[in-house]
Amino acid sequence: MAEFELSGLLSGLPLPAMLVRGDDRIIACNALADQLLGEGIVGRHPAIAVRAPAVLEAIGAVARGGGVQEVRMTHRREGHEAVFQVTVSEQGGGLVLCVFKDISEEEKAGAMRRDFVANVSHELRTPLTALMGFIETLKNAAKDDPKAREMFLGIMEAEAGRMNRLVRDLLQLSQVEANERVRPREAVELRPLLEGVISSLRGVAERTGDRVELVGDPVTVPGDADQLVQVFTNLVENALKYGRAGQVVRVSLTPEETVRGPAVRVEVADEGEGIDPVHLPRLTERFYRVDTHRSREMGGTGLGLAIVKHIVSRHRGWLRVESVVGEGSRFSVVLPLG
Ligand SMILES: Nc1ncnc2c1ncn2[C@@H]1O[C@H](COP(=O)(O)OP(=O)(O)OP(=O)(O)O)[C@@H](O)[C@H]1O
Ligand SMILES: [Mg+2]
Repeated sequence: MAEFELSGLLSGLPLPAMLVRGDDRIIACNALADQLLGEGIVGRHPAIAVRAPAVLEAIGAVARGGGVQEVRMTHRREGHEAVFQVTVSEQGGGLVLCVFKDISEEEKAGAMRRDFVANVSHELRTPLTALMGFIETLKNAAKDDPKAREMFLGIMEAEAGRMNRLVRDLLQLSQVEANERVRPREAVELRPLLEGVISSLRGVAERTGDRVELVGDPVTVPGDADQLVQVFTNLVENALKYGRAGQVVRVSLTPEETVRGPAVRVEVADEGEGIDPVHLPRLTERFYRVDTHRSREMGGTGLGLAIVKHIVSRHRGWLRVESVVGEGSRFSVVLPLG
């Protein structure tokens, strides 16, 4: 086949591809390969286009021995590293075809999945180990000591409660993720919803002598009431948990004009110690906590803000966090009205 016909053939492929004759000259490539490897590589030695030694070795081996080889290649592109799977195959007549498939996203998703499973296992193992230890103690040393038994059972109850919350939050997270594409459309009146959230947390607030204040006019948004209760329960609960004892937590409703139309901003502001800016971008990651020990002590799973983020995005809204160390934090949820 003539070389121009070969380029025509390659241009029909949905992936970057180039043809090499022997192992010393690129004779055709498609536009995607131009973009990936640089313009004007036709006629040049493959080493000009591809720096990865593994790919060059595969081209050489296939040119000599035939067959197909798959190799991994990392490639810097527009400032970030991409990972490609390169399929190098013999095409007869001394031609070798190289096809480049970007597998960065798959690799990232795989790494995230592995991290997630490792985190879940770790979070579950901690209370489980404690439970098993106490069961052992109850069966032996504390068998005939009612006082010790009472104490150990109390701790076991708390640990089992933690596992229960963790499993509940994980299920919630996966449910929200599964429905994320479907925007909820019930008419939700935010003021009474927030009043409900605040009164359900009154007990928590009283324990530390905090007060929760609500200001703003009534407003109705399209949404899912149960999920919005979850969002604001977590935000107000966080403000109470991580705030300063005796503080005022301010919850406010403010109209906001956004590029996508009218919206309402619900802000939850505390007078706590604030959050160092280094943590802000990662707060909504699953299991991310500024102070893991402290969050665990308080029964937290570190999934609250991850759930908040998914619910808010399901409502086509967004979450903003501002914080000044030593003064307090402000979590705002912006929800579109239409
Ligand atoms: N108002 C706040 N002030 C200071 N730090 C906060 C505040 N809200 C959240 N954080 C930090 O962000 C972390 C993540 O919050 P998130 O709600 O996701 O988890 P959690 O509260 O630890 O657990 P859960 O919500 O499952 O009970 C918290 O552990 C805490 O370190
Ligand atoms: Mg929380």
